[in-house]
Amino acid sequence: MQKFFFLVMVLTLILKPVFAQHDENCSGCHNLHDAKAPFSMAIKPDTTIINPYTKEKISGQSAICMGCHNGSAGPEIDMKKTHPVGMKPNPDKVKVDTTLLTKTGIFECSSCHDFHPSNTKYKYLRVDVKPENLGLFCALCHASKRQKNAPIPSLE
Ligand code: HEC
Ligand code: HEC
Ligand code: HEC
Ligand code: HEC
Repeated sequence: MQKFFFLVMVLTLILKPVFAQHDENCSGCHNLHDAKAPFSMAIKPDTTIINPYTKEKISGQSAICMGCHNGSAGPEIDMKKTHPVGMKPNPDKVKVDTTLLTKTGIFECSSCHDFHPSNTKYKYLRVDVKPENLGLFCALCHASKRQKNAPIPSLE
């Protein structure tokens, strides 16, 4: 029995970083003295995935996120089935607040998610919504598609 608890303890210690990457310890994602990528990232970005919208290999921030969300850690995201990222939005189709784009004007994972542990909202989204009113979040950029008179969320 004691051996069993010892095993559980060891496994908990080994697996802990895998289950708590967006936590307050920062070290799941950042490594200050042994960085694998810019922004002192602790993990190697996955640059092997083709972005279906650009037909090019992903780079920058999507590649960092996919370094884990490619199935290595956390919920797996399939780029082939994901909302567009990694491109400049077409202003005729969608209105994106420029503060949500990267410095070079690219729409990224962080245009929708603020993945830092300081964000306590549902799925780290930038607007405080629940699965029941997710449409409110969509209206942040797709206001023309929303139900008549439905509110447009603000980013404060
Ligand atoms: C889930 C992964 C993750 C965690 C956890 C995380 N970061 Fe980050 N952090 C990133 C990524 C990815 C970037 C690059 C942002 C970009 O592409 O603009 C970044 C960028 C930064 C930057 C530089 C850019 C900026 O926005 O100022 C700072 C500073 C930073 N993180 C601090 C922290 C601190 C402090 C913590 C812990 C409290 C933390 N991070 C936890 C992923 C993470
Ligand atoms: C070092 C690995 C790692 C990196 C890098 C990383 N994540 Fe995660 N992510 C995880 C893990 C593990 C979980 C599940 C546990 C948790 O929420 O911390 C997760 C969970 C999530 C969730 C779901 C949260 C929930 O409430 O269910 C979202 C959204 C997310 N990540 C977005 C991102 C985005 C966007 C990036 C890139 C900016 C990113 N992650 C980078 C490991 C990572
Ligand atoms: C257009 C906005 C948008 C963009 C861009 C976006 N996401 Fe999300 N993401 C969402 C929403 C909304 C949810 C919650 C969906 C739900 O609960 O039905 C979500 C959920 C997630 C989850 C949790 C999935 C789960 O099973 O719980 C992860 C992980 C995640 N996103 C990662 C990413 C990564 C990595 C990228 C960039 C490659 C990205 N997201 C780009 C809007 C976005
Ligand atoms: C932060 C801004 C933002 C949010 C929030 C957002 N989108 Fe988008 N959406 C975009 C951008 C940018 C595009 C790409 C437009 C282009 O083609 O240039 C897009 C494109 C789309 C497309 C067309 C995809 C394709 O293959 O051409 C659909 C459908 C869509 N979004 C649905 C949603 C839904 C549903 C939500 C809410 C769950 C949502 N979006 C939230 C910015 C956003």
